[in-house]
Amino acid sequence: MALLPILTAPDPRLKKKSLPVEKVDDEIKQLMKDMLETMYDAPGIGLAAAQVGVLKRVLVIDITKDEENEAAPLCMANPEIIWASDEKTVYEEGCLSVPEQFAEVKRPEKVKVRFIDQENEIREIEVDGLLATCVQHEMDHLEGVLFVDHLSTVKRGMMLRKAKKSKKLSM
Ligand code: NI
Repeated sequence: MALLPILTAPDPRLKKKSLPVEKVDDEIKQLMKDMLETMYDAPGIGLAAAQVGVLKRVLVIDITKDEENEAAPLCMANPEIIWASDEKTVYEEGCLSVPEQFAEVKRPEKVKVRFIDQENEIREIEVDGLLATCVQHEMDHLEGVLFVDHLSTVKRGMMLRKAKKSKKLSM
């Protein structure tokens, strides 16, 4: 297991599109484990491979784990949204790659996702609420899209400048 360095905006690698994996082999499985460890350590509830500089369509999520709750990790390779609800919901989102910045983003409330899990099995799940938001946020990373890209140009610019500043201040 290893902690991976998390890239922060405006690192150009965060704007790149990630490529599909052929299958979840030992290398990808290890990547998922390292990403989970990195995410729990940050701490965060989701992490895409692009955020650790690996341009592969891999992401990990755990919205459950805290001091009281056991870990319930979800590992996905090549995730695809195969259905999204017409109803939208708004969550205040943050991102490990845009430190200490938060903003409301509107997204479909429920989505159905098809992906390859850590055992290289194809799975389909329907998710809603925070988990649906998190899946869509992480999938955006695979397209080189950050949550601030859903905001107005002015707001995005302001948040990225602030994020850069807080990066400089952190030791
Ligand atoms: Ni993010």
